[in-house]
Amino acid sequence: MPAAIMGGTGIYNLSGIEVEAREITNEYGSAQVYLGQGEHEDIVFLTRHGKDHSTPPHKVNYRANLRALKDLGVRRIMSTYAVGSITTDYPVLDLAVLRDFLDFTHGRDFSFFDDLQSAVGHVEMSAPFCPVMSDKLMSLGPKYNIQCHDGATYVATNGPRFESPAEIKMFQMLGGHVVGMTCCPEVYLAGELGMNFAAVALPINLAAGLEDKITLVEDNIDEVRKNMINLMLDVLRSTNDEECTPPILL
Ligand code: HPA
Repeated sequence: MPAAIMGGTGIYNLSGIEVEAREITNEYGSAQVYLGQGEHEDIVFLTRHGKDHSTPPHKVNYRANLRALKDLGVRRIMSTYAVGSITTDYPVLDLAVLRDFLDFTHGRDFSFFDDLQSAVGHVEMSAPFCPVMSDKLMSLGPKYNIQCHDGATYVATNGPRFESPAEIKMFQMLGGHVVGMTCCPEVYLAGELGMNFAAVALPINLAAGLEDKITLVEDNIDEVRKNMINLMLDVLRSTNDEECTPPILL
C-alpha cells in the first residue's frame, strides 16, 4: 500500500524525486496529489497550501485531501508543519516530534461524520500521532543530522493571523510547545478514516512575545527541509502498515 507525505509551508516538492501530478475529485471537492515515480511509486505527496502557497490555512480542503489519500490506498501518513516555538525546549530549526495537540481552530469542516445519515463514529485520540512512526522519527533523526525533540504538543490556531503575546502566554500555561495553523483538523480527519498519522513540526520563529517582533528564519532552511524529507521517507520505509495501529472509532 502507498504511504503519504504531506508538506506544509516551504515543502512544495519532494526534493528531486520525480512525481506525476494527479487531480482527484471526491464528494468533498478536489485534491491535487503527486504520485512518486520509479523507486518511489509507493509514495504519494500532497502539499496542503498548493505549489504556490495560495491556499490559506482556514481554506485548505482538509476533507478532500484526506479522502483522496484514503482512496489511493494510503494507510500511513507523515506530515510536516512549519510552526512558531513557544518554549526554549524547541529551538528554531530543530524538529519537534508531535505527540499531542490543543485545537483552537473554528469554522472548518472538521469531521466526516456530519451528514446525519450514517452512524456517528467518535475517533479515539489517546495517541493522536502514531507511536511507532514517531519513535522511528526519534531514532532516525541523527542519521540525517537532525536534532529531534520528543513529546511536543502542537497548538492549532485558526490563522491566518499570528497570535498575540497574551495568547502565546496562555498556550504556554496550557502545556503547548509549538504553534501552527494546520495540524487540526488534519490529524483527526486521518484518524476518522483509519489512517496512521505521524508528524514533525519545524519551528521557523519564536512565537509572539518571545522576541520584540516575529522574525522568520530563512538561512540554511533548504538544507534542513531536504534532510526532513529524507528522514520522513526513511521512517515510512522502515515501518510498515501492519505494525502501525490506527486510532479506533468508538
Ligand atoms: N504561529 C502560528 N503559525 C506559525 C507560526 C507562528 O508563530 N510560525 C509558523 N507558523
